[in-house]
Amino acid sequence: MKFKRYLVTAALPYANGPVHIGHLAGVYIPADIYVRYLRLKNCDVLFICGSDEHGVPITIKARQEGVTPQQVVDKYHNLIKNSFEQFGISFDIYSRTTSPTHYQTASEFFRKLYDNQQFIEQTSEQYYDPEAKQFLADRYIVGQCPKCGNESAYGDQCEKCGSTLNPTDLINPRSTISGAKPILKSTSHWYLPLDQHQPWLERWILEEHKEWRPNVYGQCKSWLDAGLQPRAVSRDLDWGVPVPVEGAQGKVLYVWFDAPIGYISATKELTPEWGKYWKNLETKLVHFIGKDNIVFHCIIFPAMLKAEGSFILPDNVPANEFLNLEGDKISTSRNWAVWLHEYLADFPGKEDVLRYVLTANAPETKDNDFTWKDFQARNNNELLAIFGNFVNRTMVLTHKYFEGSVPLPSTFNDSDKNIIDELTKIRHKVEHSLENFRFREALSEAMNMARIGNKYLTETEPWKLWKTDPDRVGTILYISLQISAGLSIILEPFLPHSCKKLRNILNIKNIEWEKAGQIDILPKNHKIEQPELLFDKIEDEAIEKQQLRLREIKQRNLFQNAPVKESLLSVSYETFAAIDLRVGTILEAERVPKAKKLLKLTIDTGIDRRTVVSGIAEYYQPEEIVGRQVVVMVNLEPKELRGIVSHGMILMAEDADGKLIFVKPEAVVKNGSAVK
Ligand code: MF3
Ligand code: ZN
Repeated sequence: MKFKRYLVTAALPYANGPVHIGHLAGVYIPADIYVRYLRLKNCDVLFICGSDEHGVPITIKARQEGVTPQQVVDKYHNLIKNSFEQFGISFDIYSRTTSPTHYQTASEFFRKLYDNQQFIEQTSEQYYDPEAKQFLADRYIVGQCPKCGNESAYGDQCEKCGSTLNPTDLINPRSTISGAKPILKSTSHWYLPLDQHQPWLERWILEEHKEWRPNVYGQCKSWLDAGLQPRAVSRDLDWGVPVPVEGAQGKVLYVWFDAPIGYISATKELTPEWGKYWKNLETKLVHFIGKDNIVFHCIIFPAMLKAEGSFILPDNVPANEFLNLEGDKISTSRNWAVWLHEYLADFPGKEDVLRYVLTANAPETKDNDFTWKDFQARNNNELLAIFGNFVNRTMVLTHKYFEGSVPLPSTFNDSDKNIIDELTKIRHKVEHSLENFRFREALSEAMNMARIGNKYLTETEPWKLWKTDPDRVGTILYISLQISAGLSIILEPFLPHSCKKLRNILNIKNIEWEKAGQIDILPKNHKIEQPELLFDKIEDEAIEKQQLRLREIKQRNLFQNAPVKESLLSVSYETFAAIDLRVGTILEAERVPKAKKLLKLTIDTGIDRRTVVSGIAEYYQPEEIVGRQVVVMVNLEPKELRGIVSHGMILMAEDADGKLIFVKPEAVVKNGSAVK
């Protein structure tokens, strides 16, 4: 089908922290390249984005910082918006999901589905904080992980062992709001019956969209194969779009229900003609996202749109994999990232260099790694040595021999004709790659235009011909100037800042895609300005500074202590005093068969002799610890481990690597002495 217009969205970033290179590489740069290309082709296109300002993490951040959720999102919305602008991400609108239009749009959307019986209502038991008198989102509940024993696992996940959890899986759950033990209380919510949508989703994705990227198609397939389940679209929370149903006080729309509607509200804010884009089959809707968003954009949001009934569905969802940083997964909490606002401060004027590196290295089909060495090499050996160098040589020679005006070409010889041929082919290849969302391939093909130019100058050596054959020099520079002008078009989607600078030097204003690679972009005798360097060399020092920063972060992370136990929990003295700690001596120690971490210890606690199973086998040999004094918690509830009942727990200090070391009295004391 031939589309008349395009609606391109980029995932709405959560406004609870700044954006980093992973976001840029995964979503915003490819989306921007695509849109800039379409604009150059004079297509009717809208590019939509904004901040995702609801959800539990924002309320947690607000609580931690002692501010309101609105203050959190105001701060990050502005920071993020500003970073995007500086990198030239050319949204037609960057809105936010706290805007009045969004509240109205999301609420009407929900209401329409509600009125048309597109939801099912279900009651379930959820954890409730009896002191704070509120239901607890999964992240507001901590407790012991049933899998690894980590004491501060969250209701949805244990960050220590990575297991996905349900709040009711936690041993000894506590509310992080009041410290109270949560109780189960029934609450009702609205669910989108995805199971009922399964048949058409299967047809639409698995049969009609085989062209989607394998990672996207594969993820959808595995969700569909597992069988879709109804999904709650409301939450008991006070931050979000209120559920527009009578009697639903204290309930808001689930963030993943309201956020994608944000694409629609933002379009409404942009243009009164929004319906022409969202409700017309001649529009091609494309969602750019990261791989963690696939199910929401390929299954849940389409089901919402279908249930509503008047919207189009996405034609493609080019999701990227993840970008790693110097071999490690990017992590916001460990500050393992290159933040855009920091990059902009450290490398002013080099927005395009990062755009280039992140595109050349884009995690399109697999996770990829960003390294500062590669960043430097790509700047120095590619941008500067190939693109920058070629256009600079061309312009310097034009000024030297032709006073800065485009010379008249004489006849083209065979090698000229070959090159002219190559140039058009390049444009076609770039087009083909871009239309299939293969951005790194497109960039490398576009750079071939500069490679060809460079090679042409090097081989023809016009500087040697000036005395004998000035006409030939005129032809060579004519062609080289047209290639330079072509580069300012073909690289525009990738490197908008540098291409603009180049066009200023070349004195060209209006460009269109089809001109790239033609040799009549600049008219004869057209005047060009004095050359300026498009790129400069990035020295080792600048790179070492970044590497040092990362090394320091690594060090800090390594020596960082365990997270302070939920700061909002205050333990009373009575609670603390209830823990009976005694000094004891290890009498016997042996390995527990088939458990590489466990030792079975017999301890003289001064009160009794008892068995304690302890997870220290990786750090201590049984024979070396017999006779040592240790501290034992003697009134811990007995627990069976590998068939052995353990009565108590040995106190250990844990360093940042997870290594365990005994805690012992400074001098030998009598077994049974209390520790308080
Ligand atoms: N905020 C989400 C994330 O960063 C993306 C939301 S995309 C939208 O993962 F569709 F919901 F808007
Ligand atoms: Zn765990």
